[in-house]
Amino acid sequence: MKNILFIASEGVPFIKTGGLADVVGSLPECFDKKYFDVRVLMPKYMCMHQDKKDKMKYVDSFYMDFAGRKEYVGILEAKVNGIQYYFIDNEHYFAGDAPYGDLRFDLEKFIYFDKAALSALPIIGFKPDIIHCHDWQTGLIPVYLKDSFRAGEFFRDIKSILTIHNLKFQGTWDVKTVKALSGLPDYYFTPDKLEAYKDANMLKGGIVFADAITTVSDTYAEEIKMPFYGEKLDGLLRSREHDLRGIVNGIDYKDYDPSKDKFIEYKYNLKNFRKEKVKNKLALQEQLGLIQDEKKFMIGMVSRLTGQKGFDLVNYVMDELCNDNVEIVILGTGEEQYENSFRYFDWKYGDRVSANIYYSEELSHRIYASCDAFLMPSLFEPCGLSQLMALRYGTVPIVRETGGLKDTVEPYNEYEGTGTGFSFLNYNAHEMLGAIRYAERIYYDRRREWNKIVDRAMAADFSWKVSANKYQEMYDWLIG
Ligand code: ADP
Ligand code: GLC
Repeated sequence: MKNILFIASEGVPFIKTGGLADVVGSLPECFDKKYFDVRVLMPKYMCMHQDKKDKMKYVDSFYMDFAGRKEYVGILEAKVNGIQYYFIDNEHYFAGDAPYGDLRFDLEKFIYFDKAALSALPIIGFKPDIIHCHDWQTGLIPVYLKDSFRAGEFFRDIKSILTIHNLKFQGTWDVKTVKALSGLPDYYFTPDKLEAYKDANMLKGGIVFADAITTVSDTYAEEIKMPFYGEKLDGLLRSREHDLRGIVNGIDYKDYDPSKDKFIEYKYNLKNFRKEKVKNKLALQEQLGLIQDEKKFMIGMVSRLTGQKGFDLVNYVMDELCNDNVEIVILGTGEEQYENSFRYFDWKYGDRVSANIYYSEELSHRIYASCDAFLMPSLFEPCGLSQLMALRYGTVPIVRETGGLKDTVEPYNEYEGTGTGFSFLNYNAHEMLGAIRYAERIYYDRRREWNKIVDRAMAADFSWKVSANKYQEMYDWLIG
């Protein structure tokens, strides 16, 4: 039996701010249980729902040397869907109404978390062969494994993998502060290790010291070796390219299943979507106060509202788009400028645009099920899960050809009768509008063709099967 421990800052069903939580919550279930014992460790945030906290049982606690003082570390556990979870409890660091907030405090929080997570392992009594780390929040774990923790017998041959879900976030602060908080010696704070452009960089530490690095699509694995997508670490990623590979994400086919989804009124499948899917559209139009018309081309967006997701393009052509025969439904929260611009368009085009500036799992499922098309014109996209959810619900993605969007959405080819969506290449608002209008034309003028696209979209397989196998191969190879 090979022991694998996922360490991450969020995971479904306990806490979620984005796709990372979906991955951490769904991938561990997909490994072959005969050969792999995969467990998950994350913080216990006070903002987790009470019913989730009620599932947790106290295991043990201790005081850990941290930043020149003794800091409490509580350990809790829970079992969900056959997966063993552990939680690190500390009410100072994991307070607040969201997992992340102030950058400086987040940095300290996750340095504490990385050290606490490793320190807790001997007490938990689970010795991983591999610790699988996710994003900058866990970047110091590979460093600690090669440093102070190496001295202990327990840790000596633990290997580490770092999966980069988003290179944009790196956990960067001045060297002096990170040195003091982490307790790592001067040796680590040079430009070939944790230092990057004079600051200390947690993600960089992970990239330098992990035994293997992955990211969440093939295209993103290539893109980040180039300056445009490399977020100033492209040189380092080029130098580690032999240890870096892309493994595309999947989604949980039980949670995202139009034939069983508890959040949607009219269930449907590949056979009956032509009749049933549109009933969800009518229901959503009514719920959101849009014109009820089953023929109207309805475009959905479910997203964090940040620059990454291409909303500058959407804002730029929104007036033009709203003069087409379309309805637009947005669900998201994030940067104020985008929240406000969508509120404005909702006010201006009340019967055609519905901006829902909040977080709602239920509404997200209803949007995936009800819309005709799903718009995701990202500036960059490591993988993207929303387009996979849209495909599964037969909601045709319109995407920019970058990262995982490029790898998962096959552009419609009207001559060959292939493709699962529509795409455009350049980060240009009118190129995007061109792709949307092409989709509109197929939808309005060639409905049978449109339905065949929906057919192919729903039949595409983005469950975890293939990708979980790739991770297993990598674990086997690393453990030897
Ligand atoms: P990212 O991780 O960059 O945010 P992904 O496409 O990988 O992008 O994952 C986003 C996940 O978050 C999807 O499961 C999507 O449905 C969900 N999501 C984003 N915003 C909201 C929201 N406001 N309400 C509900 N779910 C949301
Ligand atoms: C990040 C990326 C997104 C990816 C998700 C899960 O949040 O922005 O593209 O799908 O992680 O890997």
